[in-house]
Amino acid sequence: QDGYYLAKLLKSKNYTVHGLVRRSAGRHAERERVFEYLDERIAGDVTDFGTLCRIFEQHDYDEVYHLAAQSFVAESFSDPFSTWKINTVGTLNVLEAIRHFAPNVRLYNAASSEMFGNEPAPQAINTPFMPRSPYGVSKLAAYQLVKNYRESYNLYACSGILFNHESPIRGEQFVTRKIVKAAVAIKKKRQKELRLGNLNAMRDWGHAEDYVQAMHMMLQHARPTDFVIGTGKTYSIRDFCLYTFDHFGMNYENYVTVSPEYYRPAEVNQLQADIQPALFDLGWQPTHTLKTLIADMITYEWNNS
Ligand code: GDD
Repeated sequence: QDGYYLAKLLKSKNYTVHGLVRRSAGRHAERERVFEYLDERIAGDVTDFGTLCRIFEQHDYDEVYHLAAQSFVAESFSDPFSTWKINTVGTLNVLEAIRHFAPNVRLYNAASSEMFGNEPAPQAINTPFMPRSPYGVSKLAAYQLVKNYRESYNLYACSGILFNHESPIRGEQFVTRKIVKAAVAIKKKRQKELRLGNLNAMRDWGHAEDYVQAMHMMLQHARPTDFVIGTGKTYSIRDFCLYTFDHFGMNYENYVTVSPEYYRPAEVNQLQADIQPALFDLGWQPTHTLKTLIADMITYEWNNS
């Protein structure tokens, strides 16, 4: 999702865009679509240090956006080892390869609001980090590595602590796309119910198309600086269900059931970004509200399912 929107943005600014693409046996339409704006696909994997070194040795890049991750929090509880390897060792590989072969490159690293855990909302850049999942821990270690490399080796390397960001092409296991998909399928009489986990968790949801703008702006900033990026608003999963089903004149309570299988061993209860520095120091602001985000997701789903 983020790679797609970012490549689209960079192409609109006349960049040449290369994408590191992990080999995958299957080819399905949605996966192929995300490559639409790439000038070149480079086969590789952030867990493979040798490949990264070779890539940075052979190309002279100006900017690197490190978005590769195992990004599904629930999965990190069932497979913490690969989450750690991809998210933390992967970031270390990128940093080491840049340090040796491309020390003048500007690096953006995708950090996460999951790093805050249950610290009280709103969360800001100086809020303590108390991650509640192997995913959050892996992202925090990567964030600290980026900071450490910036300070030790004088690299232009910074992290965006991004709160949840969604879009019509969001992965189907994430709760927003799951809800939108189900509401459309129910309206089209192809599905009868939707099983979810914790409806009371609260998230600060923005649109990925807005958030890639912030990534780009961070790399144009005079000094490498970490920023918190969100909308500053927070809503529950229940609110998201209510607005989505309401779009079709349906009451979500008639279709949504709570199933313990979707509960996580530990939950992050409320995320809400303090976006003052993003507004005033970076000059970025979101253009979407939760309702326009949902409308965008519904339109796509309705026309493509
Ligand atoms: N996925 C999912 N599926 N989540 C559910 C469900 C369900 O059936 N039912 C309730 N939830 C709740 C989760 O427990 C969580 O509190 C919330 O919905 C959001 O879950 P996700 O959409 O999976 O996202 P996330 O908040 O765990 O993580 C996303 O945001 C992070 C930034 O805060 C991901 O994009 C991460 O990669 C990102 O770093």
